Amino acid sequence: MNDKIDARPAVAKKITLTNGVELIVPHDYSKASIEAAIDFEFRPSDIVLASYPKSGTQWTAEITWLICNNADITSAKSVMLEDRFRQLEKSPSAGSLNQLDVLNAWPENQTRFIQTHLPMELLEKKLLCCPTVKLIYVVRNPKDTCVSFYHFHRMKMEYSNPGPWNEFVEKFVRGEVTRGSWFEHVRGYLLANEKYNFAHFVSYEDMSSNLRNEVIKLANFLNMRDLSEDQISTIVEHCTFANMKDNKCVNYQHYHEDGRYNFEVSKFMRKGIVGDWKNHFTIEQSEAFDAVYEERTKDWPLQLKFHPVA
Ligand code: A3P
Repeated sequence: MNDKIDARPAVAKKITLTNGVELIVPHDYSKASIEAAIDFEFRPSDIVLASYPKSGTQWTAEITWLICNNADITSAKSVMLEDRFRQLEKSPSAGSLNQLDVLNAWPENQTRFIQTHLPMELLEKKLLCCPTVKLIYVVRNPKDTCVSFYHFHRMKMEYSNPGPWNEFVEKFVRGEVTRGSWFEHVRGYLLANEKYNFAHFVSYEDMSSNLRNEVIKLANFLNMRDLSEDQISTIVEHCTFANMKDNKCVNYQHYHEDGRYNFEVSKFMRKGIVGDWKNHFTIEQSEAFDAVYEERTKDWPLQLKFHPVA
């Protein structure tokens, strides 16, 4: 298997869209599917979850879906999350359906749950056509995101070879990894929200420290204020790291079985903790990262809770 990892290209796949925007995407993603995603017509009742990879996307998606579906644990344990929460820009692969076809055929009277890693600049125009769309953005300490992404690169076969950790950190800081710059991604959503006030921001760290509180805040944003205390407790219990790690509908075990992921290298549900960066960054790497963080975030409309990146 290591031979297979080594055979992957060291450089991530860059595409230039017709509108001139450059994007770095997984190797199995096509320009056509990204362009189709940008033209996607949202519906007023859509729920859209956006994030930079490894920020806690699946965690937030599972919580969001349960909030909007009466904490229906039975369905959540029998239908794959990726079939309940569709990724907008994912290219159809062998044996899988075109996500956009599925979303476009979705019954008009049912909420569509849509997940995306696309930058705000590519979604803004279409989102603004549909101001009642509920937009959620999940963000995580970039050092922990970088660590999680490094291990994800090691095990996800359609990604480029991350190389050694010290090289990966530098590529992450320069925005040369799949999905591009963390700084640009977060900034885009923060600036758009400053202008239109249309998103709910949730952080991985807040979910880790008080999941119940974050479930209630998210339920309020989604206008699902009728959830009972019991339903909230059910969601919180179902969404602990230990329970999600054992749940085949969210842990991507099937991707390991079909060869898309290699869990012998690293699991999708890897550690699920705050602060694992301290086990990876050297003091020099951490200080260099902090300096870049200071510089790149100084024009942001608000400073995120992990500023400084501790
Ligand atoms: P680690 O690699 O640090 O463990 P995404 O869904 O955006 O790809 O994010 C994946 C990260 O979220 C992984 O981080 C994963 O373990 C973590 N995660 C997923 N579910 C979680 C949960 N219930 N509690 C805590 N962390 C969770």
